Amino acid sequence: MPAVLDDITSEILDLKKSIGATILAHYYQEGEIQEIADITGDSLKLAREATKVETPVIVFCGVLFMAETAKMLNPSKKVLLPDLKAGCSLVDSCPPEKLHRYQEMLRANGRKFQTVTYINSSASVKALSDWIVTSGNAEDVVRNRVPADCEILFVPDQHLGRYLQEVTGREMILWDGSCMVHEIFSVHDLVKMKRTNPGAQVIAHPECPRNILEHAEFIGGTEAMIVYVGKHKEPTTFLVATEPNMMWQLESRSPQHKYLGVPGITCACNKCPHMARNTLEKIRDCMRNGSPEIHWQPEFDRAKEVLTRSLLNPPVPVAVKVSAYPHGD
Ligand code: 13P
Ligand code: SF4
Repeated sequence: MPAVLDDITSEILDLKKSIGATILAHYYQEGEIQEIADITGDSLKLAREATKVETPVIVFCGVLFMAETAKMLNPSKKVLLPDLKAGCSLVDSCPPEKLHRYQEMLRANGRKFQTVTYINSSASVKALSDWIVTSGNAEDVVRNRVPADCEILFVPDQHLGRYLQEVTGREMILWDGSCMVHEIFSVHDLVKMKRTNPGAQVIAHPECPRNILEHAEFIGGTEAMIVYVGKHKEPTTFLVATEPNMMWQLESRSPQHKYLGVPGITCACNKCPHMARNTLEKIRDCMRNGSPEIHWQPEFDRAKEVLTRSLLNPPVPVAVKVSAYPHGD
């Protein structure tokens, strides 16, 4: 919390008390939003924490699929999202009708498969799935929960799917979606940064394409990055290939290190425009107005079942391991 509270922060804290709200924020939110949050986390941690909230209101500072997940996992709460237009390019890349047609085609061809879906997807797509994964539990689900005699249809992130395919050795049918942020990190700049920062370590999110992951000392989701960096006691330079607001969290938790963001091809800071829709003003306004609110949709019933089985039951530990990209193939 800032030492001196500005007006808007005081207003938010007062509203939090008066309406009974818990603020959850993803690590890709601006530092000033993470600072006022009760809980910060990656997609998996926030989904699990949402189930434990006891206040009547959850203010979800993240994007729509995350707020919908919180609603599905804790339906009696009023879930507010400061900006309903905070979407995700991965969600957009997988319309449910298109997925349904593709699954029907596979079935008509006699293929026996299960659909493993990244949590960055709509509730309707989740409802068409067998498993939901995040960067934190994907490897575990693919290795241990999908029956060995089933093929895997992995949607919608082709890069995460390809990475999982290579680390687990399980063949997958990959959807062709991607994250608009992670897809455009500049390999050229990354190689230059490695040259000018000898000894620096590259940490990359598995939503990055292979040409970036090949340069990484560590590949993992945002929660795993925090743990990895925290294990380094000696001051180290980290070249960070994920959404740049992540560096606020890394700097707060492990200030002994230096963090340099890998630039994008088209834009030096490469921020997620969807995450950036949330602001302190919109957080205050949604608490004042009690909207925008996530309302229960018919597809939430089935999606909730898949989410519960995949993320909560039984609880899966966050995978924290040093996994470099398998080279030489
Ligand atoms: P995690 O924080 O779960 O690794 O997800 C990254 C992301 O892109 C969320 O939109
Ligand atoms: Fe979606 Fe990428 Fe933004 Fe995450 S960073 S919300 S995956 S567009």
